[in-house]
Amino acid sequence: MDIIEQTNLHIMPTYARNPVVLADGHGATCHDAEGKTYLDFGSGIGTMSFGYCNPKWAEAVCEQVNTLQHTSNLFYHVPQAQLAEKLCQMSGYAKLFYANSGAEANECAIKLAKKYSTEKYSRNRNVILTLVNSFHGRTITTLSATGQDVFHQYFYPFTGGFRFVQANQIEDLYKNLDENVCAIMIEYVQGEGGVMALDETFVQEIRKICTEKDILMIADEVQTGIGRTGKLFAGEHYHCHADITTTAKGLGGGLPIGVCLADEKFADVLNSGSHGSTFGGNPVVCAGALAILNQITPELLNEVQEKGDFLRRKLTSLEEVVSVSGLGLMIGIQLKTKTAAAVRDTCLKKGLLVLTAKDRVRLLPPLNISRQELETGAEILCQCISAS
Ligand SMILES: Cc1ncc(COP(=O)(O)O)c(C=O)c1O
Repeated sequence: MDIIEQTNLHIMPTYARNPVVLADGHGATCHDAEGKTYLDFGSGIGTMSFGYCNPKWAEAVCEQVNTLQHTSNLFYHVPQAQLAEKLCQMSGYAKLFYANSGAEANECAIKLAKKYSTEKYSRNRNVILTLVNSFHGRTITTLSATGQDVFHQYFYPFTGGFRFVQANQIEDLYKNLDENVCAIMIEYVQGEGGVMALDETFVQEIRKICTEKDILMIADEVQTGIGRTGKLFAGEHYHCHADITTTAKGLGGGLPIGVCLADEKFADVLNSGSHGSTFGGNPVVCAGALAILNQITPELLNEVQEKGDFLRRKLTSLEEVVSVSGLGLMIGIQLKTKTAAAVRDTCLKKGLLVLTAKDRVRLLPPLNISRQELETGAEILCQCISAS
């Protein structure tokens, strides 16, 4: 039986998959089962930040697999401690919690905010403001936090206590603010929502309100974190340090991880028994993530910015392109007449993998993509966008 048939027969149909069976890859290049070569400008939705089978990551993972593949969180181990120290040093946060995905990292942030506020004020202070058009995950609570009606169907009852504010509208922010708000949760760049960057004045207003009213500012950097936008965290573009930052995708290099980082003031709110995970902070995953983090250097971050600028220049010069959004190597392309899905499908035929987000073509190429690969992929993309 062929792989696509076997998959469709036995796996629930939750994904709109491309009709391609991927077999192997190296760097920004991968091959399908028939040997066709593709350049990947999606990195598995931004997870393989250093491409397929990054040698340093692969070496760290393989070594750890052969040393200690797992312990429960009832014991200590080296990769967890080393990764936590490195991530806290690089980000300026005091402590973190290890989860297995972006949604789980956000669940942790939401629980932390509610516990802090319940203990210090009252259990009524449990409302979290999130933004219209946001995306925070697929668990019932993170779906409830997601500000898109399309996700608020079927799975009743949703978790209560979320209010949705129009992005960049300070007036709407104040309209939704009252004594029951315990947190404000944002993505600096709304990824799934179409690669839409927030205005700095709006972000700064949120920071100010949160500081003044002892409300937790939560930055969901699941997609924007770990160098994707040309900074370790996108908050740096906004000169903003959130009380809590969650991140996931790019940290794992392709293995499942999520983290919830907290400032000193909130670092011990979730104590023994109030949160946990069987696999969170797994040694193999952490060893790989540490190898990823060690490669996020100032030079690499500058390159990410330059490569993003190169793609922006190429794309904005096209007649068919209305606008190019996002930061660094997180790019959304709004088209005049073509649909994003049509461009994605044409690119696939021509050997280039791209993503879509809402009505936009979305690019999340590996951070270390070579200049040559970037130019080749950009050429294919421009042709596909411009073809009549
Ligand atoms: C901003 C943001 N938050 C949360 C998530 C959910 O992450 P995961 O699919 O790892 O649970 C995503 C995934 O696309 C995301 O982009």
